[in-house]
Amino acid sequence: MIILGIESSCDETGVGIAELGADGSVRLLADQVASSVGQHARFGGVVPEIASRAHLEAMRPTMDRALAESGLALSDVDAFAVTRGPGLAGALMVGVGAAKAYALALGKPCYGVNHLAGHVAADTLQHGSLPSPCLALLVSGGHTQLLLVEDLAGKITELGSTIDDAAGEAYDKVARLLELPYPGGPPIDKLAAEGDPEAIAFPRGMTGPRDARHDFSFSGLKTAVARWVERAEAAGETVPVADVAASFQEAVADVLTMKAVRAAEEYGIGTLLISGGVAANSRISGLAAQRCAAAGIELRVPRPRLCTDNGAMIAALGAALVHAGVAPTAMEFGADPAMPVELISL
Ligand code: KG4
Ligand code: ZN
Repeated sequence: MIILGIESSCDETGVGIAELGADGSVRLLADQVASSVGQHARFGGVVPEIASRAHLEAMRPTMDRALAESGLALSDVDAFAVTRGPGLAGALMVGVGAAKAYALALGKPCYGVNHLAGHVAADTLQHGSLPSPCLALLVSGGHTQLLLVEDLAGKITELGSTIDDAAGEAYDKVARLLELPYPGGPPIDKLAAEGDPEAIAFPRGMTGPRDARHDFSFSGLKTAVARWVERAEAAGETVPVADVAASFQEAVADVLTMKAVRAAEEYGIGTLLISGGVAANSRISGLAAQRCAAAGIELRVPRPRLCTDNGAMIAALGAALVHAGVAPTAMEFGADPAMPVELISL
């Protein structure tokens, strides 16, 4: 069966096509993404209205490119899957409207699915089906979540999430402070390689004995970096940007990997999956590999292209739902900006 996935929850318009085998295996046939990230750069973050308009312009061309890449015609598609939430309301509506229109016109089923579950599903395109249970750490500009995945098509439970900024958001804000370009993850990652991660002891948020074990907080860390830089500037010192970047990155990597490994041990889970744009970070994946190896936990990190927002992950989730025999969504569905992670599809 051919499943076509559409993603438009943030600033990436994605169309992916996957083939579902009779044994439940998924094969990626096309993965096309159009990003409006360049249009948001001067604002230092995603501007919802700009993102929505960019989706509208990119939807048809991205669909055409995906079909061309797969060598298939629209009539070959057996089922559609689309991100219904969570995400930006106006942006989600573009993808949902497009998917429903294609499905109705072709008389094919459509699944309104959860973006977060999509991030988890992305890994099946590279490493095959997921063991049950598995623990997923989603880290991007919009989310920081620890998910217990018992069944990709049926049962995902949120163990914890950030109570303020997402991990990627912290990277973007700290980059702005250090006058580095947006998005801030890649330049900080690069600069950190030249700095000393132990130069400055930045706080490890939510790691106190009374803090929620599986939740995260990055806003205090961002403020600590701002205060440190302000103090250095006020004292007339040259700010050691590489040391600040390395020390900030160490604080993020330390907390994320420590909490993920601890949760895996607590729940007796043998596999940790890290996904989302921040999973591309060299220190986070490096430290996760080290700590997972020490704890005897298998680590799965999909390639960066599958980690960031894309339509392929939505196609992969759609394929998992079709394989599990889950009923498609009734055509009256709309976008749900606050769709809870427990709801994998509607
Ligand atoms: O998944 P993604 O492309 O989009 C969403 O936010 O959904 O993630 C983008 C985020 C940005 O905040 C960006 O700064 C961060 O991922 N990022 C990184 C790296 N590459 C991208 N953060 C740390 N290190 C990186 N190498
Ligand atoms: Zn995402």
